Amino acid sequence: MAENLPFEERYYQPPYKQLYKESLEEPEKFWRKMAEEIEWFSPFQKVLDESNAPFYRWFIGGKVNITYNALDRHLKTKGNKVAIYWENEKGESRSLTYSQLYNEVNRFAKILQDLGVQKGDRVLIYLPLMPELPIAMLACARIGAIHSVVFSGFSTQAVVDRINDAKAKLVITTSNTMRRGKRVELKRIIDEAVSQTPTVEKVLVIKRDEEIELNEERDVLYQDLIKRMGYKKVEPEMTDATDPLFILYTSGTTGKPKGIYHLHGGYGLWTYLTTKWVFDLRDEDVFFNTADIGWITGHSYIVYGPLQNGATVLMYEGVPDYPNPDKWWELVEKYNVTVFYTSPTAVRTLMRYGEEWVKKHDLSSLRLLGSVGEPINPEAWRWYFKNVGRSQLPIVDTWWQTETGGIMISATPGLGNYMLKPSANGLPLPGVDADVFNDEGKPTKPREKGYIVIKRPWPGMLAGVWGDPERYIKTYFSKFQGVYYPGDYAVKDEDGFFYILGRADEVLKIAGHRIGTREIEDVLISHPAVAESAVIGIPDPVRGEVAVAAVVLKQGYQPSDELRKTLIEYVRNNLGPIVVFGGLYFVSKLPKTRSGKIMRRVVRSVISGQTLGDTTTLEDETSVEELKKIAEEFSKEIQSQKNQQ
Ligand code: WTA
Repeated sequence: MAENLPFEERYYQPPYKQLYKESLEEPEKFWRKMAEEIEWFSPFQKVLDESNAPFYRWFIGGKVNITYNALDRHLKTKGNKVAIYWENEKGESRSLTYSQLYNEVNRFAKILQDLGVQKGDRVLIYLPLMPELPIAMLACARIGAIHSVVFSGFSTQAVVDRINDAKAKLVITTSNTMRRGKRVELKRIIDEAVSQTPTVEKVLVIKRDEEIELNEERDVLYQDLIKRMGYKKVEPEMTDATDPLFILYTSGTTGKPKGIYHLHGGYGLWTYLTTKWVFDLRDEDVFFNTADIGWITGHSYIVYGPLQNGATVLMYEGVPDYPNPDKWWELVEKYNVTVFYTSPTAVRTLMRYGEEWVKKHDLSSLRLLGSVGEPINPEAWRWYFKNVGRSQLPIVDTWWQTETGGIMISATPGLGNYMLKPSANGLPLPGVDADVFNDEGKPTKPREKGYIVIKRPWPGMLAGVWGDPERYIKTYFSKFQGVYYPGDYAVKDEDGFFYILGRADEVLKIAGHRIGTREIEDVLISHPAVAESAVIGIPDPVRGEVAVAAVVLKQGYQPSDELRKTLIEYVRNNLGPIVVFGGLYFVSKLPKTRSGKIMRRVVRSVISGQTLGDTTTLEDETSVEELKKIAEEFSKEIQSQKNQQ
């Protein structure tokens, strides 16, 4: 008997596919629709201005202030919802609801105004992961000032360079932070720095525990000002969509870091949308992003993205393995974290301590995991999936950069796209026209390695390099005509999944932190003992990559273990402890071309034991022999380290 069975030809397609298609086929309509999701003081007239390409500008004529979307708009519906949970190494904690955060930001904004900070002024923020960091950022943004946050692990020289490049007027800092039970004196670093920065008028100091020494003329104590101030409301500045929101410095291929800057409108919308699309945040979620706010990951996915979405974030001021390697899992359990976002380096670090530390905790609140900052190796992926994800949670492997403002390639659970392949980042987000090009600027075939490129502008893209428009064009829009060049190797498969393979330029990723080899070389040669140096990156099982330096000493200096230590210390003092060396070796000469250019490629090949390739341009073959000896020494050292473990 013929029975009417419920067969169906049509099937449910996740919104991702449709949205992606629309975004590229009808961009104008698509962006207008997307932009409705945030609030504008007055609407924009034009979606995208390409007249001054590659200086693309989004949402022309629109007035919008990112803090209105991050704070004011939630007051009615989410005033009592927790915006920020905070905890430190000692287990001290604080939480701020949306209305408390709103009040704090308003009062802070008033202080900034009283100190003479105006729209467009640059403010350098040097704070650890304490609640006053997002408060200070939002306060700047509220009055239209431009913040430049410097990671609190950076040392004096890095602070000086960043203040001077941006011509910052005000510095915001605090007395200290604790790192592995030790006090790090942050104010002291600022004291040293501001003696070399003519533009700084005042230093606003947030006191933490005990009394601190103040410079009467220059320093103002935050607590003094806030004590005298009652409730204050500061209306958000009517910023243009194209007004700068912040500068964030990142390393490139020259010795000088680049001041990447982003704007209220495009960056605001992009971080809002990508947070929603990728992390699929719901009202009951607690989002724990383990990054520091001193990096773009924290700017976009602790502060601006989640807060614009009215989400609850957890900030932890400390490292994952102190006091014990289960600190993060303890926090996940305590705060019922649902979405957890971290770096492959952190996963590999925790992996080494063994599964027992994870097993001690109930992580059943988690529903989504994320990875960012560097490619995740299969071993780390599996450990993360099995132990943290209970062998069932999706891991979004989000590829993006300081320059892209927000996530570009990833699975998008918020758009129903859970398609995952371990070690692949996934498909481009709506609006992201990504491809892989070969050296000739032609798209590669599936499975053929090339460079990832983005073929049209997107709202979150950098607005430029602060004070250096030439460098913006040269770095990002010169390798291939008319397309954005991120500087990463990539490959695509038959399904259109992207796999990002690592940097294609002289930039290292040490524990996920970007650092230019030239930056390290410049510091080395500023030391009186050093004549020349070549720095390369080599793979490291935990940090992904570490630096190796070949150093030529000046006459009168002899190689010694002590000098080696001194030079390593010197670099770390200048650039900060993010620079980790796998080795520093003394040589009598470096491989160079006949025109005198150091051939880092040769240094890298020899040290990492790869074939040399073409060396016909080498000026002097004996430099290679010397390096080969070092390579032997080096592999012996690595072997003995392995044997010790
Ligand atoms: C790398 C961090 C592979 C890449 C958000 C990029 C990644 C650089 C991933 C940007 C990932 C970031 N898989 N590689 N999921 N995420 N990268 O500016 O080399 O600190 O160019 O931004 O990190 O580093 P940045």
